[in-house]
Parts: sequence; structure tokens; C-alpha cells
Amino acid sequence: MSLSRVAEAPARSGIIDSVDDVTPVVIASIAKTKDPRAKEIMEAFIRHIHAFAKEVRLTEAEWEIGVDFLNRIGKQTTGTHNEGVLFSDAIGLSTLVCLMNNGQDGATETAAALLGPFWRMHSPRTENGGSIVRSPTPGPELFADCRVVDHRGQPIAGVEVDVWQSSPAGMYENQDEGQADMNLRGKFMTGADGRFSFRSVKPSGYPIPMDGPAGDMIRLQGREHYRPAHLHVLCYKPGFKTLITQVFVDDDEHLESDVVYGVTSALIGGYVRHETGTPPAPGMKAPWYSLDYTFHMEPGEAHLPKPPIA
Ligand code: BEZ
Ligand code: FE
Repeated sequence: MSLSRVAEAPARSGIIDSVDDVTPVVIASIAKTKDPRAKEIMEAFIRHIHAFAKEVRLTEAEWEIGVDFLNRIGKQTTGTHNEGVLFSDAIGLSTLVCLMNNGQDGATETAAALLGPFWRMHSPRTENGGSIVRSPTPGPELFADCRVVDHRGQPIAGVEVDVWQSSPAGMYENQDEGQADMNLRGKFMTGADGRFSFRSVKPSGYPIPMDGPAGDMIRLQGREHYRPAHLHVLCYKPGFKTLITQVFVDDDEHLESDVVYGVTSALIGGYVRHETGTPPAPGMKAPWYSLDYTFHMEPGEAHLPKPPIA
């Protein structure tokens, strides 16, 4: 059939005769999707990704690079490394989803931040005031004495609080054979006053893993690949929306250039340096740091995320 014959022929559904036919044909083909939310998401995804390819006039060679990029994300992901989460974080998608789904569905400031790829589900239960340093870890000592409150500012008792952080060498224990299993990870329970407390070392900033496709992308963008120092916190109690967040160190040089866009003003904590005075726990020596931060939980459904690593 000649091209002019094609132009004259009546349109037949499912047959693609031009660039403009592709999107409507693909969308029509998924019309029987039963789950309405899955249908809405897939239709929008198809419309947007087709529009994107048209906008940049994607070439065949570039499409190949894109498919290879996706395949490499999958191959790079193992039980101890999650390249998919890293990529989502590095394009700001994790932060966008986090801000849209917290703070009264994105209407107000939120206390939440992205989970990141390093949360592990079964960190050791630790008494309040106990240490999460489980193998020799250099760095100034930290005593965190924090509070969890509800939307009216009332303390919430019985909140399970998971904390995790990297070592001052910039690695989480699962990335570093030199650290004990579960070093710098612990699970606490708030008391009647909504408080929980623990000993650790002051968090340090660190470079994110750059040996996979997310790293290739960041290099191409000419961006820094550092996270400002932070402590991760996950607060869980039935009746409240699970709060996943981070508390950033206020004097970190990378606060305004976090490679994964996690910093909001509300999440910059006051890590106070003490040169003198009575240390908050036996055996602590000056100089030490203290952190007193208040976590705000919203009413809602408690839900633990799927752990990015085992
Ligand atoms: C983290 O804070 O653990 C993290 C977040 C995103 C990428 C890499 C690390
Ligand atoms: Fe982190």
C-alpha cells in the first residue's frame, strides 16, 4: 500500500499508521484494566513517557541507552544494595512523593523525609539511654534525647523508634566489613513523656555509592555526590501515619547541595557541642554533642515500608 493510500484509508483501531496514532492506540489497548487506580497510573505513564520522547525527539541510540540504564539498575540491585531507590532519590522523585503524601497530603510543612536505600527492618532493641555504637567507631560522642508528639503537641508514649546512621568514615555497617553487624542502628520505645534517648557518635556526611547507573547520571550532571550529615529516624505506632525522616547536622557544608534533595528547613537539627559540664551519661567525655529534636506524628495508618535491603 502506498503512503497516499494510507492517508486515505479509514483509521482502524489497533493499527498504527503515524506517530500521532501511537499514544491513543496504546491507551485504548489497556482499556480493560480492571483496577481503576492501576489504569489511571498506567494511562498517565504512557501519555507522559510518549510526550517526553516526542519533546526531546528521542533517537534510537538514546532509547538504547535508556533501556540499558534500566537493565543496569536491576542488575546492580542485590540484598545489600538498592540501585532503584538510589536512582529515585537522585532524581528527586522520592522527595516529591514524600512531600505529597505527608504534611496533610502536601498541604502543610511536613516532618517527613525520604527513607533512602539503607534501612534494615530488624535493628536491635535498645533501652533508652543505651548506645548504638556496637563496634569501635571514631568521632565525637552524641547524646540524643528526643521527643515524639502528636498534631496537638501531646507526647505519644509507646512509639517504636528505629534509628540508623552511617559511621564517621561515611559508610553504613552493611557497606563496611570493619563494622559490627547493626553498628549504629537501634530500636527504641518512647516513654510516657514521649521521649527516647540514645548514645552514638555525631553523624558525618558521606558520598553516595557512585559505581552504578545512578552514579553515571550524577557525573554526567556535574553534581556533587555528597549527603549532608544526618540521622535517620522511623517512628511507628498503630493509629499514626508512620513517620520516616532524617535530622540533619546544622553546620554541614552540603546542606544546600544534598545529592538526593532530602533537606527541608524543618529537618535541620540543633547538634550542640559541649566543651564543659556534666556529661549526660556515665563515661562520656568532653567534647560531646547533644541533640534534642521533636518529631511530629500525624494521625493515620501505621505502615512499615518494604526494606530496601535485607
Ligand atoms: C541515605 O541517607 O542513607 C541515602 C539516601 C539516598 C541515597 C543514598 C543514601
Ligand atoms: Fe543516610
